[in-house]
Amino acid sequence: MSDTPDAPTLDAVIAQRFSRRDLMRGSLAAALAAGLAPQTVAAPAESSAFDFPELAAGIDEHLHVAEGYEARPLLRWGDPLFPDAPAFDPQKQSPRAQERQFGYNNDFVGFIPLDATGQRGLLVVNHEYTNAELMFPGLKAADRKAVIAALSPEQVATEMAAHGGSVVEIVREAEGWRPVIGSPYTRRITAETPIALTGPAAGHPRLMTEADPSGRRVLGMINNCSGGVTPWGTWLSGEENINYYFSGALPSGHAETGNAKAIGLGSPQYAWSRFHPRFDLAQAPNEPNRFGWVVEIDPFDPASTPKKRTALGRFKHEGAAGARSLDGRYVVYLGDDERFQHVYRFVSEGRTQAEREANADLLDSGTLSVARFEPDGTGRWLPLVHGANGLDASNGFASQADVLIEARRAAKSLGATPMDRPEDIEANPRTGRVYVMLTNNGKRTADQEEPANPRGPNAFGHVIEITPDGTDHAAETFRWEVLVRCGDPAKPEVKASFSALTTENGWFGMPDNCTIDGRGRLWIATDGNNRRATGRADGIWVLETEGPRRGTARHFLRVPVGAEMCGPCFTPDDETFFVAVQHPGEPDEEGALGSYEKPSTRWPDFAPDLPPRPSVVVVQRMGGGRIG
Ligand code: FEO
Ligand code: CA
Ligand code: CA
Ligand code: CA
Repeated sequence: MSDTPDAPTLDAVIAQRFSRRDLMRGSLAAALAAGLAPQTVAAPAESSAFDFPELAAGIDEHLHVAEGYEARPLLRWGDPLFPDAPAFDPQKQSPRAQERQFGYNNDFVGFIPLDATGQRGLLVVNHEYTNAELMFPGLKAADRKAVIAALSPEQVATEMAAHGGSVVEIVREAEGWRPVIGSPYTRRITAETPIALTGPAAGHPRLMTEADPSGRRVLGMINNCSGGVTPWGTWLSGEENINYYFSGALPSGHAETGNAKAIGLGSPQYAWSRFHPRFDLAQAPNEPNRFGWVVEIDPFDPASTPKKRTALGRFKHEGAAGARSLDGRYVVYLGDDERFQHVYRFVSEGRTQAEREANADLLDSGTLSVARFEPDGTGRWLPLVHGANGLDASNGFASQADVLIEARRAAKSLGATPMDRPEDIEANPRTGRVYVMLTNNGKRTADQEEPANPRGPNAFGHVIEITPDGTDHAAETFRWEVLVRCGDPAKPEVKASFSALTTENGWFGMPDNCTIDGRGRLWIATDGNNRRATGRADGIWVLETEGPRRGTARHFLRVPVGAEMCGPCFTPDDETFFVAVQHPGEPDEEGALGSYEKPSTRWPDFAPDLPPRPSVVVVQRMGGGRIG
C-alpha cells in the first residue's frame, strides 16, 4: 500500500478543501447558534463516485448486499484451519479443537498479498471476544452473572482459545476464494499464546507478576478489536475492553487503585478468574497492566513471538492503521474507545526501511501524542513525554513507563479533547486526510456540547476529517471538521448532517470500523444499529468525501439480525471486499442476553442443530470487476 499522496491533484484538492473549510467554519458557528440545522444545504447532484445500486436498509435473519454483488462466508467460527483440526461440532467443542479452528467474533480483517497478482495472500483476523451464551448448549442462564457461574473450566478454556487472532492463507481460484488448509503460514493466537512486552514500559516493576518476574512476557492477547497492516507486512492488533476479564478487587489502598479505575476494572463479564488466578485482581494486581496494548505480529513466521508495543500506550485500543510521514517515519493513528476518551497518534523515531527486517523494532521508539481539537477548526498533537508539561514525578509519573501505562491520565492532564468514543481511524493515502469514527456517547450532556463533539447526548455518532498541516502525518498541528453527524436526517431533533442527496436507505448511525479502497473512497462499518435505535441492521455504507456530493452516504451491505459489522478490507485490486460479521444471533436489543437454543438467527448455516457463527464474508461483483 502506498502512502504517497497523489501529487498532481493534491494541491487542487487541498485548495478546494480549505476554501470549503473556511466556508464551513462560518456556517458551523451559525449552525451551532441555530441549534444545529438538521440538513446541510442541498448540493447540486454530480455523478456519484460509486456505481452500485443502493441496498434497502432493513433488518432480518439474512445478510444482504447490493444488487449485482455476491457475498459468501469464507471462514466461519469453528472452521478447521489445520489438517489435523476436527470438524466443527458445537456439542463437542473443546479447547484443543478450538485452538486449531477459526476463532469467535472476528473483528479486524487485513489482507497481505503473497504475490504480485494478489490472488493469494494472508488474511489476518482479530477474534475480539466470546458470547458464551451463544456458543455453548444448555447454559440456561438468565443473565451475565449466571453465565459466569455456570461455565465449566473446559468451556472457559474454549473461550480463551476462541480469542486472539488467526492467520489464514487464502487463494482465489475459478470458484472463488478458499482457505489453504496445510499452509505453512497458518497460525492461531489465543489468550494463552506467549507474547513479549517490548518498548519503554517492558520490564517495568508495574508489569511484573509472580508468574513473570521479568515483566516482559505475558500470556495471550484479549479483546482485540480493530487493527492495521504495516507497510513492512506485519499485523497490528489493538487490545480494547480488557477490563471485563478481571474479577475480584485490589488489596485495599493498593498503588494501582487509580489506574484500575481509569481503565474500568471492577465489572467482570467473564468467568476466567474462577480457573485462572492471573485474572483475579487480589492475586495478580499487575496483570491488567499487561493488557490494553497494540500487539505487532509477523504473519510470515508462525513461530515468531508477537510483541506488545508499549510505546503506543495503554488504553482501550480500537484500531492501529497508519501512514508514512513526509520524511518516512511511520505514523499510527489510535482511538481509545470509551466515552470521553481520546484520539492518539504515534510517530516512530526511525524511518521505515525497504528491507523488511530493518523495521522489526521500529514501533519500540517514538512519540505518542494525544489530540486537542480547538473550537476554531485547528488542532494540535500533545506529546506524552515524561518530564515535559507536568508529566513528571510531581504528578505521579516517575518514568516514561508510567506515562504509557496510564496514558489516559497523562492525556487528560495535558488537556486532550474528550471525544465521543473514538473507534477506527484511517488515513486516505490519496489525499493525506484522516477519518475518525466517533461511534456515540449517550453520556454527553447538552452543556458538554462543543464543536468537535457537537451533540449531547450523541446517540448516533459522527465522523471527523483531519487534515495534517503540510499534509504531513508527523506535523504537530492540523485542521479538522465534522464531516457528518450521523442518524436519520428526516428527524429534525436528531440533527444529522448527511448531504441532502442521501436517501432514506443511505443514512446510518454508529460508525465503527472503516477502510479506504484503492480509489481513495471511504467505506464505513457500523455497530449499534437495530430495530429500536435506527430501524435497520448494521452494515456497510460508503461516504463521499469529495466534490459536491461530499457527505452523501449510500448503503451497500447489511448483516443478519443481532450482528455488528466489522473488518472491512479490500484486496489491492479492489475486486474483493472482506467483511466480518460479528456476534450474529444476539437479541435485537441492547443489554439482552441471547441463548444457544434460541438465537435471533442461525446465519450462516441455517441448520437447526447449528448455532449462528461469526464469519468473514467475501464480497465480489458478479461477473468480476472492481467493487463499487
Ligand atoms: Fe470493539 Fe470499539 O469496538
Ligand atoms: Ca470497533
Ligand atoms: Ca480499518
Ligand atoms: Ca464494535
